[in-house]
Amino acid sequence: MFNKKNKDTTSIDIDTNNIPKHIGIIMDGNGRWAKRRNLPRSYGHKAGVETIRRIIKECNRLGVKYLTLYAFSTENWKRPEDEVNALMGLLVEYLKKEFKELDKNQVVINYIGDISKLPLRCQEELIKAKENTKSNTGVVMNLALNYGGRAEIIEGINRFLKDHNGEDNLKITEEILENYLYTKGMPDPDIVIRPSGEQRLSNFLLWQCAYTEFWYSDILWPDFTEKDLQQAIIDYQNRERRFGGL
Ligand code: IPE
Ligand code: IPE
Ligand code: MG
Repeated sequence: MFNKKNKDTTSIDIDTNNIPKHIGIIMDGNGRWAKRRNLPRSYGHKAGVETIRRIIKECNRLGVKYLTLYAFSTENWKRPEDEVNALMGLLVEYLKKEFKELDKNQVVINYIGDISKLPLRCQEELIKAKENTKSNTGVVMNLALNYGGRAEIIEGINRFLKDHNGEDNLKITEEILENYLYTKGMPDPDIVIRPSGEQRLSNFLLWQCAYTEFWYSDILWPDFTEKDLQQAIIDYQNRERRFGGL
């Protein structure tokens, strides 16, 4: 958990030889951030985008290889249409506005989730951004959009069945399934960070999180800073990962 005593820790305390390869973040608390200011929820989402900008830079600086950002879940369609539209609009705006800077910083823009259900203009921007940054050498930013861990596993199994249609003795293994997930070829997340005080997965990377370390804090995503990320990494580095062994 977040250790208040170490709040002013600088990155000097981070062990640069043990940087998590893959960090997942459930970017939560935008709505509450806005509500506390008597602002519409969409202002919280806008403020959340500013945090993304800072955290990607910091991940690049620290040498994190993969950063998966949970931006829209398969369950978030239940929200009022206005909010869903605002989120989709922000996504397009973000990709358009930030592309140059992300590209300059060598960020590889990627997405996980079934983007075919997103508005066409979102799909187009995502595909373009992915294509134009695929040879970059910095952090891979996976935007999880219309992403759900359960849907990912089911979709993977169905694709496997389709590819092997009619074969005898069909059997799926962990290795096969991993090759059919959106995260194919990526290491499992070492740490998942969830701000906003909630202590649940909310359908995020269910398969991949089997041995992931969790880090929660009451900070709302728009208030999350580089220092908070550093603190999460320091806490991660002080944990003992046993993977079932001794
Ligand atoms: C996270 O913030 C952003 C998305 C889920 C898209 P929320 O919108 O869930 O914020 P809270 O939880 O209502 O504060
Ligand atoms: C999880 O947050 C999804 C994203 C951050 C995109 P939610 O706010 O949707 O999760 P619940 O409903 O509190 O579990
Ligand atoms: Mg929420």
